[in-house]
Amino acid sequence: MTLLNISNLSKSFGNETILAHLNLSVAEGEFVSILGPSGSGKSTLFHLVGGILAPDEGEINLNGDVISGKRGYISYMPQTPSLLPWRNILHNVTLGQELQRKADKETAKDMLMKAGLQQYMNAYPNELSGGMKQRAAFIRALLSPQSVLCLDEPFSALDELTRQEMQEWLLGTWEEYKKTILFVTHNIEEALFLSDRIIILSSKPAQVKAEVTVPFSRPREKKLLLEDEFFKWKRKVYNLLTSTADEYITRT
Ligand SMILES: Nc1ncnc2c1ncn2[C@@H]1O[C@H](COP(=O)(O)OP(=O)(O)OP(=O)(O)O)[C@@H](O)[C@H]1O
Ligand SMILES: [Mg+2]
Repeated sequence: MTLLNISNLSKSFGNETILAHLNLSVAEGEFVSILGPSGSGKSTLFHLVGGILAPDEGEINLNGDVISGKRGYISYMPQTPSLLPWRNILHNVTLGQELQRKADKETAKDMLMKAGLQQYMNAYPNELSGGMKQRAAFIRALLSPQSVLCLDEPFSALDELTRQEMQEWLLGTWEEYKKTILFVTHNIEEALFLSDRIIILSSKPAQVKAEVTVPFSRPREKKLLLEDEFFKWKRKVYNLLTSTADEYITRT
């Protein structure tokens, strides 16, 4: 069932068109990655979905309701974890819930424990490493009551090993909590490892250039990254991303 539907979405800044008649939909519980060149308008798309920006044209629907230009319907995690420095970690992760007056400290504590942050519940963000901050910000997004979670390159600032650990942790957590995730990344491997579906955007003005349904079964483990079949798909997605036939929509 479609949960989030984006239709005919266009956005310009001044006389520069960033998104042009973009269409995409995400089903309930689905993990969808958006892959596109730098500057193609991925973060702009998230700002529109989150209601921080209003579209020039088109509509965003959540469960059939129009949410374009409205805030508070989507849980959004920006690229740099925006933890509040004056709140400890426990109070940071329950922030989204507090805004909706539904704080559930027990679940928050349980998730912090599973994320290996049990010793840091009362610590302040400046006492955490980059990966720990990412996990805390992610738990906050997950605990927020909204059903759709938008993650904008959440792991791009991490080293390769931490990134892989975080990917596995994210997958495990997502498999348990089954939120609907829209995930922006530059990284083909990451998109293939995590997603049910990958939407490939053209360069600016962004349009959907191709869509790939990821064939790997779940639960997925790190060893998948070394399989021939994984390389085959990596090549396929790379070719789609770099092909110049922008007007051509491929469904695999
Ligand atoms: N508020 C704004 N005002 C004017 N131009 C903007 C604004 N926000 C974004 N842009 C422009 O829109 C284009 C797309 O930016 P956006 O941040 O959406 O790209 P992106 O795909 O997220 O890139 P990256 O992968 O590097 O994060 C860029 O050319 C950027 O300069
Ligand atoms: Mg961006």
